[in-house]
Amino acid sequence: MSVSAFAESEEPKGPSPAMQEKIRKANEECFSCHSAEGVKNPPKPGMDLKKLRTLIRDKEAFHGSDHQRLACTKCHNEGYDEHPHAPDAKDNTSSCPDCHQKKADHAQEQFDKSVHAKNLAEKFTCTTCHNPHVMRIAKKLVDPKKIVAQDNRICLGCHDSDERFAQFAPDGKSRPAIDDIHAWLPNARIHWKAVRCVECHTPEVAADEPISHEILDKKRAEKRCVTCHSRDSALMVRLYRHLAEEDQKKYGFVNGIVLSNNYVIGSTRNPLVDTLMVGLAVLTLGGVLIHAALRVLMHYLRRSNNK
Ligand code: HEC
Ligand code: HEC
Ligand code: HEC
Ligand code: HEC
Ligand code: HEC
Ligand code: HEC
Ligand code: HEC
Repeated sequence: MSVSAFAESEEPKGPSPAMQEKIRKANEECFSCHSAEGVKNPPKPGMDLKKLRTLIRDKEAFHGSDHQRLACTKCHNEGYDEHPHAPDAKDNTSSCPDCHQKKADHAQEQFDKSVHAKNLAEKFTCTTCHNPHVMRIAKKLVDPKKIVAQDNRICLGCHDSDERFAQFAPDGKSRPAIDDIHAWLPNARIHWKAVRCVECHTPEVAADEPISHEILDKKRAEKRCVTCHSRDSALMVRLYRHLAEEDQKKYGFVNGIVLSNNYVIGSTRNPLVDTLMVGLAVLTLGGVLIHAALRVLMHYLRRSNNK
């Protein structure tokens, strides 16, 4: 993979500032119906409001998205200028590769190797995971909490919902409960808020490349705590890569409760401290065992005394 595939010149350019004002006005037309406000106060009578309610787009989210400067009609090409819309209008909707060919080819190549390609290649498209009306690229979100919320919503949308999982799963396959699968991870729900599924379920990539679209199977997923809970945390080149260096330290693994509680042996990168911690752990376990043995002994002694 060469870096040039992501070079600026390969990417479609947004409209000029002069055009943007016009576009915003034109998009207001669409929002005059396709919004909560539009359903409440329809600009014309006799519309199928029940249907329209399922077709609402969030104006604020759109104005914070990667495509905020695009005309709706840039993707919904022909047949939407008038309502009722043309019956075949939907066939003319552009998809990601139409405008981002290089990025899409690259994502597709990686997707083809992912767990979802094995049985579900026909069912998955780019828009299964990406909503073009709300998505915001990680390097523009910057804030890890926002990046995690956006990206984990994608995975949890299926893996934490029986209904949606069943729509995609091969016949009869039931959804393994996401918390049970990760029972070895303490406070899994806290992890879902602080770190992304793709941190553990995608292969390592070069620092200047986006996170891979190759979702690894469970055998190849990351299980080692120190991958993240250490000073040279993998998160530096993943989730935290968009933060300034001094901000990286504020997050998670350095000042976090984890290091201070010595949950994770190896996290200090200090062999002496780690040896001491292993020693302490053994002593603690030993203490528990001796205590238990004593209790059993006392129990028998008491019973034989009572005879
Ligand atoms: C006057 C109200 C109104 C306006 C303005 C309007 N729409 Fe619609 N649109 C609807 C209604 C109602 C539906 C539901 C289907 C129907 O009744 O035609 C719909 C359906 C759709 C659909 C669903 C796909 C389909 O073809 O069934 C899309 C996409 C869409 N509109 C996009 C747009 C875009 C883009 C604009 C602006 C260029 C726009 N609409 C302007 C009322 C409107
Ligand atoms: C970057 C391209 C892009 C832009 C810009 C865009 N859309 Fe869409 N839109 C899509 C795609 C792709 C889909 C189909 C998503 C899917 O397959 O679920 C879609 C789906 C829709 C639907 C639902 C259609 C259905 O049948 O469920 C509506 C309504 C809609 N868009 C309205 C709008 C409005 C209004 C705007 C402008 C504010 C807009 N879109 C801007 C790409 C775009
Ligand atoms: C009609 C063409 C078109 C389609 C279709 C389209 N995009 Fe875009 N996309 C653009 C343009 C143009 C920009 C740059 C917008 C700007 O600079 O304001 C952009 C920006 C982006 C960005 C931000 C890039 C950056 O470096 O800031 C991402 C990510 C993105 N699109 C992903 C997608 C995905 C995923 C899809 C499919 C769901 C998609 N796009 C569909 C035209 C399109
Ligand atoms: C299984 C869900 C899934 C599918 C399918 C998927 N993506 Fe993604 N995509 C993601 C996730 C999660 C991220 C966030 C990773 C990151 O921050 O780089 C992402 C990130 C991206 C980005 C931003 C990368 C960057 O520059 O930082 C683009 C562009 C993109 N996807 C395009 C696509 C295209 C095009 C397709 C279809 C060929 C596609 N994706 C299919 C889940 C998916
Ligand atoms: C649209 C629904 C959907 C989305 C979105 C989705 N998945 Fe899946 N995923 C599935 C289904 C269904 C299966 C079962 C596939 C099979 O058995 O062939 C699966 C399988 C998996 C597996 C394979 C487990 C094994 O057997 O080794 C992993 C890992 C996985 N998904 C992780 C993710 C991650 C990470 C994301 C987010 C980037 C994600 N999934 C997004 C539906 C989804
Ligand atoms: C800390 C790393 C880590 C994170 C974060 C993580 N996983 Fe996993 N995941 C794993 C490992 C390791 C396994 C394999 C566990 C095993 O085999 O005991 C696994 C297994 C799975 C499986 C396999 C289920 C089966 O069929 O047995 C799925 C699906 C999955 N993860 C989805 C997700 C989703 C969705 C998220 C985000 C909400 C996520 N994972 C977050 C490491 C992680
Ligand atoms: C993919 C990176 C990653 C991996 C792998 C990982 N963690 Fe975490 N973990 C995090 C992040 C990020 C946080 C949030 C830290 C914070 O905000 O202070 C966290 C939080 C925690 C917490 C604190 C929860 C709380 O109550 O605040 C514990 C305990 C923890 N991890 C233990 C582990 C253990 C044990 C393992 C290995 C089995 C592990 N983690 C693997 C990234 C990871």
